[in-house]
Amino acid sequence: MSAVITTHALTKTFKTHTAVDALDLHVPQGLVYGFLGPNGSGKSTTMKMLLGLTQPTSGDIEVLGQPLTRASRTELLPSIGSLIEAPPGYGHLTGRENMRIVQDMLDLSTAQIDHALATVRLTEQQHKLVRNYSLGMKQRLGIAMALARDPALLILDEPTNGLDPAGIEEIRTLLIDLAGRGITIMVSSHLLDEIDKMASVLGILSSGKMLFQGTRDQLFEHSVPDLVIETPDPQAAHAQGINATLVPEGIRLSGIDKDQTAKVVYQLAVAGVPIHEVRRVPQSLEDVFMDLTGRGGPL
Ligand SMILES: Nc1ncnc2c1ncn2[C@@H]1O[C@H](COP(=O)(O)OP(=O)(O)OP(=O)(O)O)[C@@H](O)[C@H]1O
Ligand SMILES: [Mg+2]
Repeated sequence: MSAVITTHALTKTFKTHTAVDALDLHVPQGLVYGFLGPNGSGKSTTMKMLLGLTQPTSGDIEVLGQPLTRASRTELLPSIGSLIEAPPGYGHLTGRENMRIVQDMLDLSTAQIDHALATVRLTEQQHKLVRNYSLGMKQRLGIAMALARDPALLILDEPTNGLDPAGIEEIRTLLIDLAGRGITIMVSSHLLDEIDKMASVLGILSSGKMLFQGTRDQLFEHSVPDLVIETPDPQAAHAQGINATLVPEGIRLSGIDKDQTAKVVYQLAVAGVPIHEVRRVPQSLEDVFMDLTGRGGPL
C-alpha cells in the first residue's frame, strides 16, 4: 500500500528536551491513521513538522510522494487540510463568514464552501455566530475549513478533544466517510477509545518514541490475556504477595505467561487457597494501550 506520509528518524529537540525522537511514520493512503499518545508525548509537535509549521531538528519527511522542504511546502499545502490544537474560527463571525475567509485566502469556489459545510452538516447553522456554536459544531467548522480545498490528506490534531460521546460519534462517522472517499486522514488523540473505532492503523507514541505502528489486530498480538483466578477467599490469595487486583470472583493478574501461571497456581494451592477456576480473559484495547505506554519501552 502506498504511503501518503513517510518520515525517517524524524526528531525535534527543544533545548535539551527531545519531544520527538527518531520517528519512522508510515501513513498509508486512503484510510484513517490514529496517532495516539499520552499528553506531552509529541503528537502536536510531529503534526506541526508534517505541515512545515515547525522545523525538524533532524530527519526526513515525505508527504504525498515529495520530500517536504521549504520550497515544496508551498506546492504541497493546498493538498493538505489541517486542524491543529484549538478549533479555528472567529467567534464574532458566522460559520459562513469564517468559511468565506478561507474561500478568499485559498481562492475556492462557492460550491466548494457549500459542499464542505454540507459534509460536516453545518448548512442549517451556517448563519449563526460561531461563539454560539457548541464545541462539536466548532470542531466540525474547523474540519469544514480544512476540507474546503478538497485535500488529499487531512491532518487533525485531537478533533474529538472535549466532545461528549454523541459529538465523538459524529466526528468518527464523518472521518470514516471521508476516508471512504479516498482522503487519507491522520488524526491524533490521547484517548484510545475515541479513535479505536475509526482508525484502521494505529501509531502509538510515548515520550516522543513510536512504541507501536500497525493494525489493531497486530496490536492485540502483543497482548497477553489477563488471568482470573476464581476463589471464595480472594484476600488470602492476595496475601500471598502476588501482584494482582481483587475482582468480585477472585483475583486478576496481568501479563502472566504460561510458566508464571503454573507457578502462581502452585503457590496458591500450597498455601491452601481454594481455587475454583483459572481462566484467561482478553484485555481490552485500552489495557493493551496502557500497558504499552506505561511500560515505556518499544515493542
Ligand atoms: N515550543 C516548544 N518549546 C519547548 N517545548 C515544547 C514546545 N512545544 C512542545 N514542547 C514540549 O514537547 C513535548 C511534546 O509536546 P506536544 O505538544 O507535541 O505533545 P502532545 O502529544 O501533543 O501533547 P497533548 O496531548 O498534551 O496535546 C512536551 O514536553 C512539550 O512541553
Ligand atoms: Mg497536542
